[in-house]
Amino acid sequence: MRKIKIQAPATIANLVCGFDILGLAVNAPYDEMEIELLDKPEIIIEHIDEYNLPTKPEENVAGASLIALLEAYEDKSIGFKVTINKLIKPGSGLGSSAASAAGAVVAANHLLNNYFDKKDLVRFAMNGEKVASGVKHADNITPCIYGGVTLIRSIAPLDIVELSTPDLFVTMVHPQIEVKTSDARQILRKEIQLKDAIKQWGNIAGLVAGFLQNDTALISRSLDDVIIEPVRSILIPGFDEVKKNSIVVGALGGGISGSGPSIFMLSTTQDIAKMVAQEMKLIYEKIGINFYTYVTTINKNGVILMTD
Ligand code: HSE
Repeated sequence: MRKIKIQAPATIANLVCGFDILGLAVNAPYDEMEIELLDKPEIIIEHIDEYNLPTKPEENVAGASLIALLEAYEDKSIGFKVTINKLIKPGSGLGSSAASAAGAVVAANHLLNNYFDKKDLVRFAMNGEKVASGVKHADNITPCIYGGVTLIRSIAPLDIVELSTPDLFVTMVHPQIEVKTSDARQILRKEIQLKDAIKQWGNIAGLVAGFLQNDTALISRSLDDVIIEPVRSILIPGFDEVKKNSIVVGALGGGISGSGPSIFMLSTTQDIAKMVAQEMKLIYEKIGINFYTYVTTINKNGVILMTD
């Protein structure tokens, strides 16, 4: 096979309390990409979307990820042409850069007869995240590649734990303001108090146990962040109201998606997830900010290879 089309899903990093270590993939939105194997050592990037992203391979998240993959590949005479139709808006907090990075390496690996394992692919795609945000975090890339809910216990050495994935519904709202991940990281406090750390690791452990035991009440209690959210939520108009009203109509809980500005909520039924979307709509209409909402489910497979 010389060419393949894929869909690379949006992802929700952090899952409220698990800054840089937890994430999940969702079924919508997703980026569309086509990757072609070339018989020359070259990477060509083409964007067919409206975002005017860099196409120099070393400045492009898909390009930087493929450079890392090719460096590790035995045959130095090959390259790739990548065509990207970005449907996950950059700067949305929905893992737009991770989708390009992860999508590129998963597709390329398929064309190389799965020479690399998934963990290698995460390592390569982290180079893409570094281009996008200045930091090699893996909490978007990993669920994009593995699907479901994932835990990055450690980045160096890379230690990935796949968590069982409950059948939850996900509502997301993307208010149309841009929050750059690099800025949203810059404003965080570098030191935290022990009493806050104790609350945070209680919640992270509770959330992980909640996923593993399919205990939605425990998931709900654990979706609480005393460290990052109080700082970052200031950048997102309507955040407190979205959270409060979503819980009133029955959501388990939620918070900032990645570094924002999108907000996500988890629910046990589609009806509740739709009511949450309605609450989000009312809030942003009242504030007067354009927005998109999504009602979707957890993507359990990660990047989808299209076989047509
Ligand atoms: N964990 C990262 C952050 C995700 O919150 O900065 C960025 O999408």
